[in-house]
Amino acid sequence: MFKLIKISINEILGLEGVIMSDGFKGLSGKDIISVLDLSKEDFENIFKLADEYRVNGYRDVLRGRVLSVAFFEPSTRTRLSFESAMHRLGGSVIGFSSEEATSVAKGEKFIDTVRMLDSYSDVIVIRHKFEGAAKLAAEVAEHPVINAGDGRNEHPTQAMIDIYTILKLKSNVSNLIIGVMGDLKYARVVNSLLYAFTIFKPKKVYLISHPLLKLRDEAKKFIASQGLNFEEVSDINLVLNELDVLYVTRVQKERFPDPIEYEKVKNAYKLTADVLRKCKEDLIILHPLPRVDELERSVDSTKHAAYFKQASLGVPLRAALLTLILGGY
Ligand code: NCD
Repeated sequence: MFKLIKISINEILGLEGVIMSDGFKGLSGKDIISVLDLSKEDFENIFKLADEYRVNGYRDVLRGRVLSVAFFEPSTRTRLSFESAMHRLGGSVIGFSSEEATSVAKGEKFIDTVRMLDSYSDVIVIRHKFEGAAKLAAEVAEHPVINAGDGRNEHPTQAMIDIYTILKLKSNVSNLIIGVMGDLKYARVVNSLLYAFTIFKPKKVYLISHPLLKLRDEAKKFIASQGLNFEEVSDINLVLNELDVLYVTRVQKERFPDPIEYEKVKNAYKLTADVLRKCKEDLIILHPLPRVDELERSVDSTKHAAYFKQASLGVPLRAALLTLILGGY
C-alpha cells in the first residue's frame, strides 16, 4: 500500500539484537479511528517509542514521507504537535486548518477532499465536527487515517497522551482512583479516555458532573460491559480526598444543540487552588486544553498541575504513533 522505509524498528529504538514484539508490526498501515482500534500491547509499543524519542532524541525515520492535516474544526495542540512530530522525524506536512481554506468552501464534497489528500500524502490526520467523519475518510482513503476528533465521538490520540502522562507521573494506572470531571456528555476526549480505561483498568473511576452533563448512556453501557469500576457523582467535594488523578474538561459550547442548555451549565463547576485544599498531596490534575473558566489559573502554580506537561508529551507520543503507522520493518 505504501513504500517501506529502509530502517528497522530495532534500529530506531537502538535495540539491535532485541527481538521486538509483533505489536510493532501490528500498527503498520493501520487506521486509528477509535481507542478501541488499539490493543494494550499497541499502547505499550507507542509509549516505548515515545520514551525513546524523549530520551535519545528524534531521528529522520520518516524522510520523504508526507502527512496531510485535514482540520475542518479549530485546533492548536493537536494539529501543531502532529506537524512538529512529522517535521522532527524528517517528514513533511501539507494541509489546512479550517474549512474556509479549502474548496469545501466552494462546495466540494468531503470525500473528494479526502481522495485528493490521499493521493498527495502517506497518512491523513483528520478533525471534523461530524461524528463518523474519520471513519468515512478511512473508508475512502487507501493510506492510513488518524482521527484527531470527530464531533462528540472520539479523540483517540488525546487519550494516548492522557494514559502516557498518567504512566509517566504515577507509574501505573491499575492502582489509581481517577476522577473525570466536567462535560462528560459532549467531550470526545472523555469517551476516548474512558474507553482506554477499559484497557488499562484503574481501581476506580468517578464520573463527576452536573446532572445535565452526565456521560451518555451508550458510553456508560459500554464501559459497564467491560467491567470498568465507576460511579457517578455530582459534586467533586464528595470524592476529592480519594483521588490520585483528576481529569478536567471544559463545557463544549460548540456541541450544544440548544444555547439555552449551554447557559444553564456553563458555570456549573470550577476548579480553584482553594477547592484543592482537601486533596491528596500527590494528586495530579490533567486537562486536554483549551480551558475556559473551569480551571482557574490559581491551580497552575500548585504542585498538582500537570496539564502543561501532558500537552508537551503530545509531540513524542504522536511522533511514535506516526513512526509505527508509517514505519518499515
Ligand atoms: C480537545 C478536543 O478538541 O476535543 N482539545 C484537544 O485536542 N486538546 C478538548 C477540547 O476541545 O475541549
